[in-house]
Amino acid sequence: YPPERVRNFSIIAHVDHGKSTLADRLLELTGTIKKGHGQPQYLDKLQVERERGITVKAQTATMFYRHANNQLPASDQPDAPSYLLNLIDTPGHVDFSYEVSRSLAACQGALLVVDAAQGVQAQTIANFYLAFESNLSIIPVINKIDQPTADPDNVKAQLKRLFDIDPSEALLTSAKTGQGLSQVLPAVIERIPSPPGKCDSPVRMLLLDSYYDEYKGVICHVAVVDGALHKGDKIASAATGRTYEVLDVGIMHPELTPTGVLYTGQVGYVISGMRSTKEARIGDTLHQAKSIVEPLPGFKPARHMVFSGLYPADGSDFDALSHAIEKLTCNDASVSVTKETSTALGMGFRCGFLGLLHMDVFHQRLEQEHGAQVISTIPTVPYIFEYGDGSKVQVENPAALASNPGKRIAACWEPTVIATIIIPSEYVGPVIMLCSERRGEQQEYTFIDAQRALLKYRLPLREIIVDFYNELKSITSGYATFDYEDSEYQQSDLVKMDILLNGQPVDAMATIVHNQKAQRVGRELVDKLKKFIERQMFEITIQAAVGSKVIARETLSAMRKNVLAKCYGGDITRKKKLLEKQKEGKKRMKRVGSVDIPQEAFHELLKVS
Ligand code: GTP
Repeated sequence: YPPERVRNFSIIAHVDHGKSTLADRLLELTGTIKKGHGQPQYLDKLQVERERGITVKAQTATMFYRHANNQLPASDQPDAPSYLLNLIDTPGHVDFSYEVSRSLAACQGALLVVDAAQGVQAQTIANFYLAFESNLSIIPVINKIDQPTADPDNVKAQLKRLFDIDPSEALLTSAKTGQGLSQVLPAVIERIPSPPGKCDSPVRMLLLDSYYDEYKGVICHVAVVDGALHKGDKIASAATGRTYEVLDVGIMHPELTPTGVLYTGQVGYVISGMRSTKEARIGDTLHQAKSIVEPLPGFKPARHMVFSGLYPADGSDFDALSHAIEKLTCNDASVSVTKETSTALGMGFRCGFLGLLHMDVFHQRLEQEHGAQVISTIPTVPYIFEYGDGSKVQVENPAALASNPGKRIAACWEPTVIATIIIPSEYVGPVIMLCSERRGEQQEYTFIDAQRALLKYRLPLREIIVDFYNELKSITSGYATFDYEDSEYQQSDLVKMDILLNGQPVDAMATIVHNQKAQRVGRELVDKLKKFIERQMFEITIQAAVGSKVIARETLSAMRKNVLAKCYGGDITRKKKLLEKQKEGKKRMKRVGSVDIPQEAFHELLKVS
């Protein structure tokens, strides 16, 4: 397939507007997957994705489609030229906009899917701009027109108003009933340009993604920009200078299908004997060995916005956790991992995530796919502290910020985001209240149609990583949609808050909070701990302190717990069982100093905002 007969496109949409279903239909329509293959959403492969119904990792599939530039159906024209179409699926959630921009780097066009009833939502706007800034041809697709509440004309008007899209360009589809689907691929071929690139130059390709397969080793997804890549070729990485031999090359159709070659403009996979995904840097340029080439512009590197400590739930499992994290990061290069030691929890890791959902998904995958039991510490954002002598540090772990540092803290900065919120107008009041409670600053307040308003706020990232989205959904009966983009750091009045158990600070529970909120957060943390720590043989005091000042305090009185009290002598097996059970219970505890803290206590602390 010469580049003129190749089209690379992706589907972008707000969560749940039907992107994955539409992708499935297109794969069926081209015979790439069988109809009713029993597994909806072929491209969503991870278990978490199926469970949560969200796409986390972008996948790619190649399809073949016959198309003649006239009105006759292709089946009546055996000579209609065949096109090679690469569909690059993208995640819809805010946390993964990094993955979206990666997918878009290999595309020349995008289908912008909008639900015909819900209309433009916060992520539609964010994704539109990502595509627009990448100079992609955008095909608006108004989906779910089968719904009784569908109002495609209203959606057309919104697209015109917000993005200046000509209403006549919109395709109307139902991925459910199949209505309108036959227009989609012809539009892709006619409206999206073929990939640019020089066919007779030495091969140059962009590394889009990589993952580790137990049998095949590292598999790289690539977009060939110039030249052709053949099996047996010698290629080099522009980032590391290392060279490799191409052992296998092919397309995702949708499973790996060897073709022996990838030509200019094509997207496919390469296996080249890399040992670890660390060698396969996403955004790197791979090129013909021994030729000097200009590296392709890579992607914006992933920015880690949320950090949390991960510790084995049972101290002895450190190696198991370490192994599980290593394996998982092989397939999720967007997590950063460094070793960390806590006096309370022992050896563990500090991990950086793109956002809170990303963190949640990572935990869930650790537990589900690798059987790891983890305790995670209160998530934090990267703060910047400046000392009296002018030196600055980025703090990713509150415990690392000494409570009474020898050096005086002169100033602190925290990261902010610009949040876009779309809501039915009757909810504007409560949402404005929520945003100001969260220290937000209004930037914009407009109406996108007669019923719905768009609010833009600058908010400290710290204020939205914990429970903001849930709260927003609950005060708007689920109607609000929300997206955000990173913005600059702003100066802020921050303090470190320690939690003390029997007078001993627990480093893993330290957190950084805004001075004005310290009192409330301290109270909440102490109350939560009191609820979740069981009484023990001695009295326990639980305190929250800023510097040397205690701002909240609770006491748990002592209790003697005798699990055998209920067995009136006699039954030895029952006695054994109870003792076993108690042992089991203990396993899920962390002993901090002399106090046993159940795993749930740590989980609960995550929810305090
Ligand atoms: P993410 O992967 O999380 O970003 O979601 P998505 O945009 O891929 O949405 P998905 O394809 O998972 O569809 C969301 C829901 O809408 C599913 O329950 C689909 O069955 C349903 N759906 C998709 N297309 C249509 C349609 O045309 N009509 C109707 N009525 N429902 C649809």
